Amino acid sequence: QTGKFTYDPGFLSTASCNSTITYIDGDKGELLYRGYPIEQLATNCDFLETCYLLLNGELPNQSQKDEFVGRVTNHTMVNEQMQFFLRGFRRDAHPMAVLTGLVGALSAFYHDSTDINNPEHRKIAAIRLIAKMPTLVAMAYKYSIGQPFVYPKNDLSYSGNFLRMMFATPCEEYKVNPVLERALDRIFILHADHEQNASTSTVRLCGSSGTNPFAAIAAGVACLWGPAHGGANEACLNMLEEIQAMGGMSKVGEFMEKVKDKNSGVRLMGFGHRVYKNYDPRAKLMQETCNEVLAELGLENDPLFALAKKLEQIALEDDYFVQRKLYPNVDFYSGIVQRAIGIPVPLFTAIFALARTVGWIAQLDEMIGDPEYKIGRPRQLFVGAAKRDVAPIASR
Ligand code: SDX
Repeated sequence: QTGKFTYDPGFLSTASCNSTITYIDGDKGELLYRGYPIEQLATNCDFLETCYLLLNGELPNQSQKDEFVGRVTNHTMVNEQMQFFLRGFRRDAHPMAVLTGLVGALSAFYHDSTDINNPEHRKIAAIRLIAKMPTLVAMAYKYSIGQPFVYPKNDLSYSGNFLRMMFATPCEEYKVNPVLERALDRIFILHADHEQNASTSTVRLCGSSGTNPFAAIAAGVACLWGPAHGGANEACLNMLEEIQAMGGMSKVGEFMEKVKDKNSGVRLMGFGHRVYKNYDPRAKLMQETCNEVLAELGLENDPLFALAKKLEQIALEDDYFVQRKLYPNVDFYSGIVQRAIGIPVPLFTAIFALARTVGWIAQLDEMIGDPEYKIGRPRQLFVGAAKRDVAPIASR
């Protein structure tokens, strides 16, 4: 059928697949990974346990966890050649541009030995990607500040290793603060998977052609970068800093009026969600993590945290937000806590990508592991010109 006709936008949100991995009840504000509430996982598990759960469907017992952690630990180094990809970038390149390139470059080392239809190859690729993402993100950071790369150390935890690779230098060791280590681990858990969001759908569609997992994950990194998606944490922190520069608390009311003015094009970054029409459960846990980290660092009076809580309080009482069911999402507080840990704002989305890698891989593995799967081929609703003949150029 051709010609002008409208269609129900709901068409675009029809279910794209069956999945057993993550369940979201947007109205209740509920998030479950393989049936386990995110609140319980964030409190009782660490990130690698959560990775095991997402990949295998069950939480590991102690020996399964030890074996999994051992395998990840033994793959944290990257090929020395990878640094030459990095050195091709400008020092001030955005970390997500660098990460998209580096993850894609991993294909060059593993493509030939990876048959995506072989479950064992997919498991090895999963281990390699989970293990190497912290190393690549830390390398991108070190490169941007002109410091030498710091190699992973096998006697540190996943999150502790990342912190050390980020902040140690040859001249000064970095002592891992257990409160920051636990906070970062929880941030990774909260970002690990989230059903069929834009970047996960990108990974599924890309992987459905049979391309190698590294290329498919690189596509997910590229999609996550957008400010409407994973880039919102960076945009949210920049928004808070902008309000602070305008005058802080005294300017919050003026800013919120701008947000409500449709012509301003200003959005309250870190607020709203395609699925959650209630409080994003991750935002609550992120705010708690924020409290813990700021208290540990003696930053309880952090002006940006106070600003964020004020914005949230106003929004939760304002009809504009209440009627549109706009609540804080995972990105609203995550920037404040990452900034307190010492992670620079441009790296926030790279941290999101680091954590989401396991979700992308689990979703890709679930799709490829289904013998019925075929290459994705979304259709369209054609609303363009009806069939017509080409006129000679002289008469056009
Ligand atoms: C993530 O999908 C996932 O699961 C993603 C994610 C994951 O873990 O993978 O959860 C991660 O991407 C979280 C979302 C991060 N993005 C932001 O915080 C950017 C700011 N938020 C938005 O731009 C927006 O809320 C979206 C894109 C997140 C959701 O958009 P929707 O649900 O499609 O809402 P919409 O754009 O159709 O807006 C509905 C109404 C509109 O007003 P009206 O036209 O009805 O008058 O709400 C308004 C919008 O203008 N609105 C906002 C707003 N978000 C929506 N107004 C002000 N500030 C906002 N943040």
